[in-house]
Amino acid sequence: MFTTVTVDPSKAESLEQLGTKRKFWFTDDKGVRVLFKAEERNTGEDWAEKLACELAGLLGLPHVQYELAEEQGSGIPGVICESCSPASWSLMMGNELLLARDPAYPADDGRKYKVREHTVEAVAEVVRKLELPPDPWRTVPVGIVSALDVFIGYVLLDAWIANQDRHHQNWAALDDSQKRYLAPSFDHGASMARNLQDDERQERLTTRDANRQIPAFVRKARSAFYAQASDTKPLGTFEAWQAFAALSQSAETTWLDRLRAVDETEVARLLAEVPTGRMSPVCREFTQKLLTENKNRLVEGAKP
Ligand SMILES: Nc1ncnc2c1ncn2[C@@H]1O[C@H](COP(=O)(O)OP(=O)(O)OP(=O)(O)O)[C@@H](O)[C@H]1O
Ligand SMILES: [Mg+2]
Repeated sequence: MFTTVTVDPSKAESLEQLGTKRKFWFTDDKGVRVLFKAEERNTGEDWAEKLACELAGLLGLPHVQYELAEEQGSGIPGVICESCSPASWSLMMGNELLLARDPAYPADDGRKYKVREHTVEAVAEVVRKLELPPDPWRTVPVGIVSALDVFIGYVLLDAWIANQDRHHQNWAALDDSQKRYLAPSFDHGASMARNLQDDERQERLTTRDANRQIPAFVRKARSAFYAQASDTKPLGTFEAWQAFAALSQSAETTWLDRLRAVDETEVARLLAEVPTGRMSPVCREFTQKLLTENKNRLVEGAKP
């Protein structure tokens, strides 16, 4: 079972303003800055966040490490993660980087979704200028040689886990005032259809209607990337993967090989580690099937 860390709310130092959920920063016993993200809406973001980071680990992707957590007193569930930004560094969000590239980029109007200017081309251009993630995330698979190659892996993860939330404040750079590095992947809580109700999961698992079954369902996942700023709809998560993968043959091959090597029993073992109070048996079964379906689609769709 994944361990659950108890968080003392009286230690809260500052509320994190970015993002949609209640969260606060505190300093842990080792003097490390830690973020608690509360899951007050019962939408499964806590298990999805924890599981997604473990799946990112199976691929060998640089990622923020999340642990299940519970707020002392209220018992409110959530997750914690250490800050990925050392004290004297700054974390620059994707929208800031895109604004520096194009002064007309809508970085400040509060919108995170349906930002058509968040195109594959614009994002790739910005990410290409970054260094590989810094230590302790420097070690990446052989064949991955640039920040863009790493980012392409983030997009593969998103397609695998059906993460629809890689908007321009959910990827970032780390700046030490000398160099600018791609930040590790973070905020994967809006994935694996975590907010479906269990009766819908059950129905989709058992229906004879092919339009309601998992293979049809997973094809609806949309990314936050656009092919062109004139498009009205964002790319699907698989289309986004294909568009990014087309930018680096070696990244495409390397990340697909990593996914192909993921053992289904390892995924099952991770799913079994989530406490039942946070993830029901039907949710576990549905999530495993969703991951298998997406994995097979990705691996089979690979170019020779
Ligand atoms: N590990 C971390 N290190 C440094 N900053 C972080 C970390 N995790 C989150 N943040 C900061 O807090 C913000 C909000 O966190 P996060 O994106 O995880 O929350 P969220 O509410 O799930 O966001 P969203 O509205 O995108 O779903 C991030 O955009 C980032 O600025
Ligand atoms: Mg976020």
